[in-house]
Amino acid sequence: MKKVFIYYSYTGNGDIVSKKYMDNGYDVYKVTTKKRPIPKSFFFGMLIGGMLSGMNHKSKINDIDINLDEYDKIIIGSPIWNSKLACPTNAMLSQIEQKFNNKLANKDVSFVLYSGSG
Ligand SMILES: Cc1cc2nc3c(=O)[nH]c(=O)nc-3n(C[C@H](O)[C@H](O)[C@H](O)COP(=O)(O)O)c2cc1C
Repeated sequence: MKKVFIYYSYTGNGDIVSKKYMDNGYDVYKVTTKKRPIPKSFFFGMLIGGMLSGMNHKSKINDIDINLDEYDKIIIGSPIWNSKLACPTNAMLSQIEQKFNNKLANKDVSFVLYSGSG
């Protein structure tokens, strides 16, 4: 059975999660953004990131260069921003939907979310 952990990480916690999956036989694919999705400063990053995620904004991401159709089990990883999915994850889901929507219907698809407060 082929399994993959496809995820986004802004500050690196998702990368730590991805290593656990890798150790457990998963392929791992990290989605990347075309540019920094929120300002570097903590204050403005939280402010703008919180506002954008509140609006379900989709960051500009690079093309997802993996064929999810090949996998039986797919886990999607995302940080929580302002109690919602991070903006790059919104874009990731749109791209996955566009590329693989009908093909994922019979697969085992689930989410893993990482947050600051549990
Ligand atoms: C813009 C922004 C908003 C966040 N909002 C929340 C939140 O509402 N609740 C929470 O528990 N953590 C929040 N966090 C913390 C992240 O969810 C947490 O640090 C997560 O582990 C980050 O994953 P990453 O390192 O893979 O990006 C926020 C972080 C950022 C950058």
